[in-house]
Amino acid sequence: MPTDLSGFLQNQKALVTGGNSGIGEGCALALGAAGASVAVNYISDEPEAHRVVAAIRQMGRDAIAIQADVSKEEDVQRMFAETIRQFGTIDILINNAGLQQDAPFHEMTLRQWERVIGVNLTGQFLCAREAAREFLRRGVVPEVSRAAGKIICMSSVHEVIPWAGHVNYAASKGGVMQLMKSMAQELAPKKIRINSIAPGAIRTPINRLAWETPAALQALLTLIPDRRIGEPEDIARTAVWLASDFSDYITGATIFVDGGMTLYPGFATGG
Ligand code: BGC
Repeated sequence: MPTDLSGFLQNQKALVTGGNSGIGEGCALALGAAGASVAVNYISDEPEAHRVVAAIRQMGRDAIAIQADVSKEEDVQRMFAETIRQFGTIDILINNAGLQQDAPFHEMTLRQWERVIGVNLTGQFLCAREAAREFLRRGVVPEVSRAAGKIICMSSVHEVIPWAGHVNYAASKGGVMQLMKSMAQELAPKKIRINSIAPGAIRTPINRLAWETPAALQALLTLIPDRRIGEPEDIARTAVWLASDFSDYITGATIFVDGGMTLYPGFATGG
């Protein structure tokens, strides 16, 4: 598989929320490999963020680690101000930070509901708003990109697949879908492109229980027509492409990167 991404994002400045682990880490590394300077946001695991930053610097790119809870307006504003101070501007936002707090519906607490909506949906709103403000201020710089800026929202197959036991998470991702599309519609005339990636089951800490044991993995694979679990690189390569001018005419789209999980695999032999 070709893995040489160098040059795709030369001289661009990126911020990846939740860039210290899982899909965010994969995106941060791939953006660095593609030539971008990368701000790696984390909420609490500072050593992991510094590990990712060191790996990007190893590639000869600029990288910084920035702590912020994306659900808090003042944290998000501080994070953008700091990134712009260090990098000069921002061209790419990977709106990735997200979490699950699962519970049967009748037992779900308001705290669990609010925390998941707060990080997964309000967090994407707050970060996209700060990014859009910077893109509008700066406008298009033709030597850098045909767009004034690119936002990639990390959604999920659960923006369309209902998910029992995870109503807060599914509701947050359904919300991300309309947040993304409405922002894309509003900001397209300003040359700001906004798209989502909807990952299926990707091997990361968020769903460890679903792949850790052979029995769990076997059960999971019945939901994936491609019969393999995804890796962070599957998402990261898509993110690099969506952030680059190779996708310049794409805005308001959700790209499903899911091995066919959204193809109703139960109907492959029935119905
Ligand atoms: C969730 C994972 C899950 C996957 C497929 C993701 O959005 O975070 O826990 O494995 O969707 O169901």
